[in-house]
Amino acid sequence: MTTSRFGQSGPSHNMSHASISPSPPQSTNTVNTDTAGTDTASATVQPILAMHDVSRVHGEGARRVNALLHANLVLHPGEFVAIMGPSGSGKSTLLNLAGGLDTPTSGHVLVEGRDLAALNVAERAAERRRSIGYVFQDFNLLPGLTARENVQFPLELDGWSARKAAASAVHALDEVGVSELADRLPEDMSGGQAQRVAIARALVGKRRLLLADEPTGALDSNSGTTILEVLRRRADDGAAVLLVTHEPRFAAWADRTVFLRDGRIIDDTGPSDVDMLLNGTEIGGA
Ligand SMILES: Nc1ncnc2c1ncn2[C@@H]1O[C@H](COP(=O)(O)OP(=O)(O)O)[C@@H](O)[C@H]1O
Ligand SMILES: [Mg+2]
Repeated sequence: MTTSRFGQSGPSHNMSHASISPSPPQSTNTVNTDTAGTDTASATVQPILAMHDVSRVHGEGARRVNALLHANLVLHPGEFVAIMGPSGSGKSTLLNLAGGLDTPTSGHVLVEGRDLAALNVAERAAERRRSIGYVFQDFNLLPGLTARENVQFPLELDGWSARKAAASAVHALDEVGVSELADRLPEDMSGGQAQRVAIARALVGKRRLLLADEPTGALDSNSGTTILEVLRRRADDGAAVLLVTHEPRFAAWADRTVFLRDGRIIDDTGPSDVDMLLNGTEIGGA
């Protein structure tokens, strides 16, 4: 394995990206030492996300669909994992289960050590607001609220003062490059703008698990790169990031890529192996 492609995927980005070494599956965490003062890395650190033998079955009899089968996936602080696979392969199902929006038919999903299925509805909602940032495939912005209000709303639900929530919301909008939209309503935004506001809403606060389902779909290439930079920075600061994407150039920002087919994880690789699978070219020799 080699680290060289990290440099290629984020040429103008700061050095923290280039200095991450690809971590083997199930590795201890690789939180960057330039960000000392955030979370301290140690071999005993608790995973942020742990999915153990998770299956999700829809329907019964002839209509039975195995949306996800026996999935195992562990993300430690600082890990950024890309999920790739054909349409219908179970990517959104996996993300919904990781985010507590859906409950497994069997197996367990632990977020910071807590089994989401064991929480009641109110506890699960609170855990999701506090720990999990979710970027949906459709933007789900509340139509009557401005961009800033959309972003600050979940923080206020969680007990933040309006002033503090508004300040964090403006910062998050700035981070994804849409601070000028703060007072605009969703109906007056382009698809790409709404998508960036939705991303700001997912990133705001101190969420430890960031889940994004093709968040770059409606974005031009520059905005897509901005979003990947933000996700990468959050991982370098100690969050765990799970990104569904169809684009190898975005998957290249991740520490490893999980491939799904027919509801099964068929490969869980480091970035150089991704190149091999996608291009048939081997990097870094045998
Ligand atoms: N609520 C549901 N009811 C029945 N089948 C579903 C439901 N949600 C997903 N599926 C099926 O599960 C499989 C995986 O879907 P999904 O996770 O959305 O795939 P992807 O995001 O990779 O396109 C598909 O065959 C899909 O039709
Ligand atoms: Mg999907």
